Amino acid sequence: MKILMVCLGNICRSPLAHGIMEHLVKENKLDWEIDSAGTGNWHIGQGPDRRSTREAKNNGIDISSQVCRQFRVSDFDEFDLILVMDRNNKADVLRLASTDADRAKVKMLLGDREVPDPYHDDTLFAPVFNMVMEGCKKIISAYQ
Ligand code: 4NP
Repeated sequence: MKILMVCLGNICRSPLAHGIMEHLVKENKLDWEIDSAGTGNWHIGQGPDRRSTREAKNNGIDISSQVCRQFRVSDFDEFDLILVMDRNNKADVLRLASTDADRAKVKMLLGDREVPDPYHDDTLFAPVFNMVMEGCKKIISAYQ
């Protein structure tokens, strides 16, 4: 199983989702590959936002070596599941889909709930971490 985590910037939410899912995959001894990307291009080549890096580190997860990249159309072929954080991410990714098979791969990590964008609110990083952890655990139970 190959899973791509997607948010807007690929510096706050999807790097957390990437790191948390890799952590859980290792814990559960699963043969899954995880990556992340952003729909936007502003932060390409940068590491995660330091507030995400700190929140992950406080929870025993190291995301400091991740490098931001932008979502690309070939990701539809590369990945089995494309997990987005909010409805805007979903619309942006779906706009690039060309087949029903592409579209079927795109789901919100939390189902019908959004992971809020914490970029302009420092207090959101801790709840975002917890929401993403909860979502990743549900994905593991559903697909392992
Ligand atoms: P993310 O947060 O989508 O969770 O990575 C954001 C990061 C950067 C920006 C927006 C959201 N930005 O506008 O630069």
